[in-house]
Amino acid sequence: MNKTKSIVIATLAIGLGLTACNSGGVRRNPGKIYAPDMTYSQAYDAYTHNPNFADGETSRLPVSGTVARGHELPDHLTEGDTSAYKVFTTNLRFTAAEVEEGGRLFNIYCGICHGTKMDGQGPLFASGKFAAMPANLKDAKYLNMPMGTMYAAIKFGKNVMGSYASQLDIKQRWMVIAYIKKVQSENGGAPFTLGAAEEEHVAMAEQATEE
Ligand code: HEC
Repeated sequence: MNKTKSIVIATLAIGLGLTACNSGGVRRNPGKIYAPDMTYSQAYDAYTHNPNFADGETSRLPVSGTVARGHELPDHLTEGDTSAYKVFTTNLRFTAAEVEEGGRLFNIYCGICHGTKMDGQGPLFASGKFAAMPANLKDAKYLNMPMGTMYAAIKFGKNVMGSYASQLDIKQRWMVIAYIKKVQSENGGAPFTLGAAEEEHVAMAEQATEE
């Protein structure tokens, strides 16, 4: 009984194996299509030639000037226009969590030179491998530096400091600046003004109840 069972199973397996294999010849018959709409796309596939556009490409680039969802409008600052830097500012306001995120980004991109304490003594400079002293952001010279000048330093770089425009998008640059300004405000700089409105309301309400 067991023997017959295994013979049956073996025969089935071999039979299946044989039918599954192509005998090696070129197949001329493509078989049947039951739903041609699913086999052949009615729309132009991405990366295929498209006769409807002059450049023949199906995948289109966004219209120039398009701003992706969740991204900020372009800033229109020109490199070297230092008087424009000084008055350049933002309407963005940040929650405590966003300022904290700015701090995380600062420690990733800026701390290596400026130091996580912002004193200009980051490990790269302190090791002697980077000759130029990074700005000590707690120094009087930088405490009240206009936000736009800081923004320009991030976007275009400053002398030996490179540009961070490709690492930080516009909102992230401002988040980093918010973090710097927050720390500066706690170290003798001007009061912090980039905080979110809701937080101000909460702070004012707390003050009101205290009085
Ligand atoms: C490779 C080292 C290095 C890194 C990384 C770096 N900086 Fe700098 N930064 C410098 C140096 C050096 C200066 C001084 C440039 C000068 O005045 O010649 C400077 C100057 C500045 C200034 C003053 C600009 C001015 O107009 O005087 C600001 C603000 C600043 N950095 C912010 C940042 C921020 C924010 C980041 C991170 C996104 C960053 N830096 C990353 C080296 C660095």
